[in-house]
Amino acid sequence: MLSPRSVNVKSFRFIVFTTLVIFCVMLGLKLMVNLPEPSIYTVSDESKAVSSQSRQLRAQIGRLKLLLAKNGIANPYENLESLPTIYAITPTHTRPLQKAELTRISQTFLLVPNFHWIVVEDSETKTPLVTNLLAQSGLMYTHLNAETPKEWKLLLDDPQWKKPRGVKQRNAALQWLRNHADPRKPAVVFFADDDNTYSLELFEEMRTTKKVSVWPVGLVGSVRFERPILDEHGKVANWSTGWRPERPFAIDMAGFAINLKLLLDNPQAEFSFDAPRGYQESTILAAVVTKDELEPKASKCTKVYVWHTRTENPKLDDLKGKVPGMIVDWTVEV
Ligand code: UGA
Ligand code: MN
Repeated sequence: MLSPRSVNVKSFRFIVFTTLVIFCVMLGLKLMVNLPEPSIYTVSDESKAVSSQSRQLRAQIGRLKLLLAKNGIANPYENLESLPTIYAITPTHTRPLQKAELTRISQTFLLVPNFHWIVVEDSETKTPLVTNLLAQSGLMYTHLNAETPKEWKLLLDDPQWKKPRGVKQRNAALQWLRNHADPRKPAVVFFADDDNTYSLELFEEMRTTKKVSVWPVGLVGSVRFERPILDEHGKVANWSTGWRPERPFAIDMAGFAINLKLLLDNPQAEFSFDAPRGYQESTILAAVVTKDELEPKASKCTKVYVWHTRTENPKLDDLKGKVPGMIVDWTVEV
């Protein structure tokens, strides 16, 4: 028979045990709720990569980078040793939209850590507009120029597709990387045309590229978006494109990134004026990778993080002398 004392001890033990369990469950719940903010460099499948707090911090860093550049002070955020560098190669040419486009994308790039912008002007010499814009940008950058040969220059009335764009400029940037980039440091190379729109998620997706990563591109090839089609193992099987899906790599220039090591190991890999129309991407990719080695990003290629936007060329009546009484003031940079 149980004595009243042993009943008491038992119920006491039961109470202590239950209290402990409740305490542990509550502590666990609290820890889960208070988990540290995810690092701004991780990307979850749901693409909720950047918490609002991280976004705010990143915006402050972007603002600080800009302030430091404006005051001629070196940028202390330039290199986090632990993070692969992203080299973005941008060909650019003089036109009324140029400064607006470069301003727009440079201010996105300010919010990307370990970012190195290689801007290559399609011009005989470096222009003051681009020189000043880069110096004031707050970004780590390299400024080059490489003029498209006369026979490959688009004439005023030529349709856009008639000649390839950016060939000489991108090759000049690749040459610069081969001569100057430190092969021991992890880095990824991306071709960032000056007229596209880039989301911050895109850069965190591409940063982990081992060989070549691929993802969808919005508003391109006369369709809402193009993307690699994956097989049941998650490998690229085919291409969903508005145009010439039979290309070896039927993807836009904005739809892939290449690990720097691959470009250094394959010094012959470059763009070519001789490539058939729409084959620039296939030309460089075929030189460094095979289709089955591609790494699909952006939640198995279901998210659009970059758009092939093309800004409408403005109609400028003042330049044609069509605005009575208005004198074109070239001292103001637009
Ligand atoms: C599409 C692709 O998105 C480009 O990456 C590709 O180079 C091009 O087709 C092609 O097939 O050659 P699209 O929008 O038609 O692009 O080309 P643009 O945006 O006009 O030019 C691509 C880049 O080259 C831009 O950064 C642009 O500023 C630069 N560019 C263009 C020059 O440096 N010089 C030029 O005369 C024209
Ligand atoms: Mn474009």
